[in-house]
Amino acid sequence: MSEETPPYGSGAAATGGTARKRIRTHHLRDMKERGEKFAMLTSYDMYTAAAFDDAGIEILLVGDSASNNVLGNETSIPITVDELLPLTRAVARAAHHSLVVGDLPFGSYQRSPEQAYDTAVRFMKEGGAHCVKLEGGREMTGQIELLTRGGIPVMAHIGFTPQSEHALGGYRVQGRGETAQRILADAKAIEAAGAFAVVMEMVPGDVAAEVTKELSIPTIGIGAGNGCDGQVLVWQDAFGLRTGKMARFVKQYADVHGVLTQAAQAYSADVKAGTFPGPEHTF
Ligand code: KIV
Repeated sequence: MSEETPPYGSGAAATGGTARKRIRTHHLRDMKERGEKFAMLTSYDMYTAAAFDDAGIEILLVGDSASNNVLGNETSIPITVDELLPLTRAVARAAHHSLVVGDLPFGSYQRSPEQAYDTAVRFMKEGGAHCVKLEGGREMTGQIELLTRGGIPVMAHIGFTPQSEHALGGYRVQGRGETAQRILADAKAIEAAGAFAVVMEMVPGDVAAEVTKELSIPTIGIGAGNGCDGQVLVWQDAFGLRTGKMARFVKQYADVHGVLTQAAQAYSADVKAGTFPGPEHTF
Protein backbone atom coordinates (compact mmCIF):
# COMPACT_ATOMS: atom_id res chain seq x y z
CA MET A 1 0.00 0.00 0.00
CA SER A 2 1.37 3.42 -0.91
CA GLU A 3 2.21 6.06 1.65
CA GLU A 4 -0.65 8.28 0.44
CA THR A 5 -3.26 5.70 1.40
CA PRO A 6 -2.40 4.47 4.88
CA PRO A 7 -4.38 1.43 6.02
CA TYR A 8 -5.58 3.30 9.10
CA GLY A 9 -6.88 6.79 9.87
CA SER A 10 -4.22 9.43 9.38
CA GLY A 11 -4.31 12.86 11.03
CA ALA A 12 -5.11 14.52 7.71
CA ALA A 13 -7.96 12.17 6.89
CA ALA A 14 -9.41 12.31 10.38
CA THR A 15 -9.45 16.10 10.65
CA GLY A 16 -10.20 17.14 7.10
CA GLY A 17 -6.70 18.11 5.97
CA THR A 18 -6.07 18.28 2.23
CA ALA A 19 -4.32 15.62 0.17
CA ARG A 20 -0.95 17.36 0.47
CA LYS A 21 1.56 14.81 1.70
CA ARG A 22 2.99 14.76 5.20
CA ILE A 23 6.63 15.82 5.16
CA ARG A 24 8.84 12.91 6.21
CA THR A 25 12.51 12.94 7.09
CA HIS A 26 13.38 11.35 3.73
CA HIS A 27 11.63 14.18 1.86
CA LEU A 28 14.13 16.61 3.39
CA ARG A 29 17.00 14.48 2.20
CA ASP A 30 15.45 14.31 -1.28
CA MET A 31 15.12 18.10 -1.27
CA LYS A 32 18.79 18.46 -0.35
CA GLU A 33 19.73 16.14 -3.21
CA ARG A 34 17.63 18.24 -5.61
CA GLY A 35 19.15 21.46 -4.26
CA GLU A 36 15.74 22.67 -2.96
CA LYS A 37 15.72 24.66 0.27
CA PHE A 38 13.14 24.17 3.00
CA ALA A 39 11.81 26.22 5.91
CA MET A 40 11.38 25.47 9.60
CA LEU A 41 9.65 27.68 12.20
CA THR A 42 9.04 27.26 15.87
CA SER A 43 5.43 26.76 16.94
CA TYR A 44 3.99 26.19 20.40
CA ASP A 45 0.21 26.20 19.94
CA MET A 46 -2.59 25.01 17.66
CA TYR A 47 -3.29 28.27 15.78
CA THR A 48 0.26 29.08 14.74
CA ALA A 49 0.75 25.40 13.89
CA ALA A 50 -2.31 25.47 11.61
CA ALA A 51 -1.25 28.76 9.98
CA PHE A 52 2.36 27.69 9.36
CA ASP A 53 1.20 24.27 8.15
CA ASP A 54 -1.20 25.99 5.71
CA ALA A 55 1.67 28.23 4.58
CA GLY A 56 3.67 25.15 3.56
CA ILE A 57 6.38 25.37 6.21
CA GLU A 58 8.07 21.99 6.01
CA ILE A 59 9.08 21.63 9.68
CA LEU A 60 7.52 22.89 12.93
CA LEU A 61 9.85 22.85 15.92
CA VAL A 62 8.19 22.85 19.32
CA GLY A 63 11.36 24.36 20.70
CA ASP A 64 12.52 24.57 24.26
CA SER A 65 12.57 28.27 23.32
CA ALA A 66 8.95 28.10 24.54
CA SER A 67 10.65 28.68 27.87
CA ASN A 68 11.59 32.27 26.99
CA ASN A 69 8.92 32.91 24.32
CA VAL A 70 5.81 31.49 25.99
CA LEU A 71 6.45 30.79 29.67
CA GLY A 72 8.20 34.04 30.57
CA ASN A 73 11.61 32.63 31.55
CA GLU A 74 14.83 34.41 30.61
CA THR A 75 16.43 31.41 28.90
CA SER A 76 15.54 27.97 27.58
CA ILE A 77 17.10 26.25 30.58
CA PRO A 78 14.18 26.16 33.07
CA ILE A 79 11.53 24.51 30.85
CA THR A 80 10.63 20.94 31.83
CA VAL A 81 9.47 17.93 29.87
CA ASP A 82 6.04 18.18 31.54
CA GLU A 83 5.72 21.82 30.45
CA LEU A 84 6.78 21.21 26.85
CA LEU A 85 4.73 18.06 26.22
CA PRO A 86 1.27 19.69 26.11
CA LEU A 87 2.56 22.33 23.67
CA THR A 88 4.00 19.59 21.48
CA ARG A 89 0.68 17.76 21.55
CA ALA A 90 -1.22 20.91 20.51
CA VAL A 91 1.10 21.50 17.54
CA ALA A 92 1.04 17.84 16.47
CA ARG A 93 -2.77 17.81 16.54
CA ALA A 94 -3.03 20.94 14.38
CA ALA A 95 -0.30 20.27 11.80
CA HIS A 96 -1.51 18.03 9.00
CA HIS A 97 1.47 18.30 6.66
CA SER A 98 4.52 19.65 8.49
CA LEU A 99 7.04 17.42 10.20
CA VAL A 100 6.69 18.08 13.95
CA VAL A 101 9.90 18.10 16.00
CA GLY A 102 9.83 17.77 19.80
CA ASP A 103 12.77 19.49 21.48
CA LEU A 104 14.33 17.65 24.42
CA PRO A 105 14.71 20.09 27.35
CA PHE A 106 17.92 20.68 29.27
CA GLY A 107 18.64 17.86 31.70
CA SER A 108 16.28 15.37 30.06
CA TYR A 109 18.80 13.55 27.83
CA GLN A 110 22.42 14.47 28.62
CA ARG A 111 22.93 11.95 31.46
CA SER A 112 22.80 8.81 29.29
CA PRO A 113 21.45 7.35 26.05
CA GLU A 114 18.83 5.51 28.13
CA GLN A 115 17.62 8.75 29.71
CA ALA A 116 17.44 10.30 26.24
CA TYR A 117 15.46 7.33 24.94
CA ASP A 118 12.93 7.46 27.78
CA THR A 119 12.40 11.21 27.29
CA ALA A 120 12.15 10.92 23.51
CA VAL A 121 9.56 8.15 23.83
CA ARG A 122 7.40 10.52 25.89
CA PHE A 123 7.64 13.17 23.15
CA MET A 124 6.57 10.61 20.54
CA LYS A 125 3.81 8.89 22.56
CA GLU A 126 2.41 11.70 24.70
CA GLY A 127 3.39 14.68 22.53
CA GLY A 128 2.69 13.16 19.11
CA ALA A 129 6.07 14.41 17.81
CA HIS A 130 7.39 12.77 14.65
CA CYS A 131 11.01 13.11 15.74
CA VAL A 132 13.09 14.84 18.42
CA LYS A 133 15.89 17.38 18.54
CA LEU A 134 18.76 17.42 20.99
CA GLU A 135 21.74 19.72 21.44
CA GLY A 136 25.35 18.60 21.19
CA GLY A 137 27.97 17.15 18.87
CA ARG A 138 30.33 14.21 19.33
CA GLU A 139 29.34 13.80 22.97
CA MET A 140 25.77 12.95 21.88
CA THR A 141 26.56 10.12 19.49
CA GLY A 142 25.53 7.47 22.04
CA GLN A 143 22.15 9.15 22.45
CA ILE A 144 21.66 9.55 18.70
CA GLU A 145 22.58 5.92 18.01
CA LEU A 146 20.22 4.48 20.61
CA LEU A 147 17.28 6.68 19.60
CA THR A 148 17.79 5.99 15.90
CA ARG A 149 18.05 2.24 16.54
CA GLY A 150 14.87 2.47 18.59
CA GLY A 151 12.84 4.08 15.80
CA ILE A 152 13.11 7.72 16.85
CA PRO A 153 14.50 10.07 14.18
CA VAL A 154 16.92 12.59 15.65
CA MET A 155 17.67 16.15 14.59
CA ALA A 156 20.92 17.33 16.16
CA HIS A 157 21.88 20.93 17.04
CA ILE A 158 25.48 22.21 17.03
CA GLY A 159 27.37 25.50 17.02
CA PHE A 160 25.86 27.77 19.65
CA THR A 161 23.64 25.51 21.77
CA PRO A 162 21.42 27.66 24.04
CA GLN A 163 21.13 25.01 26.77
CA SER A 164 24.93 25.31 27.24
CA GLU A 165 24.88 29.11 27.35
CA HIS A 166 26.73 29.17 30.68
CA ALA A 167 29.30 26.58 29.63
CA LEU A 168 29.93 28.44 26.35
CA GLY A 169 30.35 31.78 28.11
CA GLY A 170 27.25 33.50 26.69
CA TYR A 171 25.67 34.04 23.27
CA ARG A 172 28.62 33.93 20.87
CA VAL A 173 29.39 32.71 17.39
CA GLN A 174 30.96 29.23 17.44
CA GLY A 175 33.43 27.81 14.92
CA ARG A 176 35.51 30.89 14.11
CA GLY A 177 39.13 30.31 13.08
CA GLU A 178 40.68 27.05 14.21
CA THR A 179 37.51 25.86 15.93
CA ALA A 180 35.82 25.52 12.52
CA GLN A 181 37.28 22.01 12.30
CA ARG A 182 35.47 21.11 15.51
CA ILE A 183 32.11 22.04 13.98
CA LEU A 184 32.84 19.86 10.95
CA ALA A 185 33.98 16.95 13.15
CA ASP A 186 30.81 17.27 15.26
CA ALA A 187 28.64 17.32 12.16
CA LYS A 188 30.31 14.22 10.72
CA ALA A 189 30.04 12.33 14.01
CA ILE A 190 26.34 13.18 14.25
CA GLU A 191 25.71 12.01 10.70
CA ALA A 192 27.60 8.76 11.33
CA ALA A 193 25.54 8.18 14.48
CA GLY A 194 22.32 8.32 12.44
CA ALA A 195 20.88 11.84 12.83
CA PHE A 196 18.56 12.75 9.92
CA ALA A 197 19.36 16.49 10.03
CA VAL A 198 21.43 19.01 11.94
CA VAL A 199 20.70 22.55 13.09
CA MET A 200 23.69 24.89 13.08
CA GLU A 201 23.27 27.98 15.21
CA MET A 202 25.51 31.07 15.07
CA VAL A 203 28.22 29.52 12.93
CA PRO A 204 30.17 31.56 10.32
CA GLY A 205 28.51 31.31 6.91
CA ASP A 206 31.53 29.82 5.15
CA VAL A 207 31.91 27.10 7.82
CA ALA A 208 28.20 26.21 7.66
CA ALA A 209 28.37 26.08 3.84
CA GLU A 210 31.37 23.75 4.02
CA VAL A 211 29.60 21.45 6.52
CA THR A 212 26.52 21.44 4.26
CA LYS A 213 28.65 20.35 1.31
CA GLU A 214 30.40 17.63 3.31
CA LEU A 215 27.24 16.05 4.76
CA SER A 216 24.61 14.01 2.98
CA ILE A 217 22.01 14.81 5.68
CA PRO A 218 20.32 18.24 5.49
CA THR A 219 21.63 21.18 7.51
CA ILE A 220 19.33 23.86 8.94
CA GLY A 221 20.81 27.24 9.74
CA ILE A 222 19.95 29.91 12.29
CA GLY A 223 22.56 32.64 12.10
CA ALA A 224 24.62 30.37 9.84
CA GLY A 225 24.29 32.08 6.45
CA ASN A 226 22.46 30.96 3.35
CA GLY A 227 24.67 28.02 2.45
CA CYS A 228 22.54 25.65 4.58
CA ASP A 229 19.85 23.38 3.13
CA GLY A 230 17.12 24.90 5.29
CA GLN A 231 16.58 27.82 7.67
CA VAL A 232 14.85 28.14 11.03
CA LEU A 233 13.68 31.15 13.03
CA VAL A 234 11.75 31.58 16.26
CA TRP A 235 8.37 32.81 15.03
CA GLN A 236 7.93 35.51 17.68
CA ASP A 237 11.18 37.08 16.45
CA ALA A 238 10.48 36.70 12.73
CA PHE A 239 6.90 37.95 12.85
CA GLY A 240 7.37 40.64 15.49
CA LEU A 241 5.37 39.38 18.45
CA ARG A 242 8.48 39.91 20.51
CA THR A 243 9.78 43.47 20.59
CA GLY A 244 13.17 44.86 21.57
CA LYS A 245 16.65 44.01 20.39
CA MET A 246 16.87 41.15 17.89
CA ALA A 247 19.86 39.03 16.98
CA ARG A 248 21.52 40.08 13.72
CA PHE A 249 20.36 36.90 11.99
CA VAL A 250 16.64 37.70 12.47
CA LYS A 251 14.67 39.17 9.57
CA GLN A 252 11.34 40.64 10.62
CA TYR A 253 8.43 39.78 8.31
CA ALA A 254 5.52 41.24 10.29
CA ASP A 255 4.61 43.37 13.28
CA VAL A 256 2.24 41.09 15.17
CA HIS A 257 2.82 43.00 18.41
CA GLY A 258 1.69 46.20 16.66
CA VAL A 259 -1.41 44.54 15.18
CA LEU A 260 -2.40 43.08 18.57
CA THR A 261 -1.81 46.36 20.39
CA GLN A 262 -3.93 48.32 17.90
CA ALA A 263 -6.72 45.75 18.06
CA ALA A 264 -6.70 45.78 21.87
CA GLN A 265 -6.79 49.60 21.91
CA ALA A 266 -9.71 49.67 19.45
CA TYR A 267 -11.63 47.11 21.53
CA SER A 268 -10.95 49.00 24.77
CA ALA A 269 -12.05 52.29 23.18
CA ASP A 270 -15.32 50.70 21.94
CA VAL A 271 -16.07 49.25 25.38
CA LYS A 272 -15.40 52.55 27.12
CA ALA A 273 -17.49 54.50 24.56
CA GLY A 274 -20.38 52.04 24.93
CA THR A 275 -20.24 51.16 21.20
CA PHE A 276 -19.46 47.49 21.81
CA PRO A 277 -21.45 45.33 22.02
CA GLY A 278 -23.83 46.74 19.39
CA PRO A 279 -27.31 45.44 18.64
CA GLU A 280 -25.80 42.97 16.13
CA HIS A 281 -23.82 41.35 18.97
CA THR A 282 -26.75 41.23 21.36
CA PHE A 283 -29.29 38.39 21.79
O1 KIV B 1 14.28 25.92 20.67
C1 KIV B 1 14.50 26.54 19.61
O2 KIV B 1 13.79 27.46 19.23
C2 KIV B 1 15.67 26.15 18.83
C3 KIV B 1 15.94 26.93 17.60
C4 KIV B 1 16.73 28.13 17.95
C5 KIV B 1 16.63 26.11 16.57
O3 KIV B 1 16.37 25.26 19.19
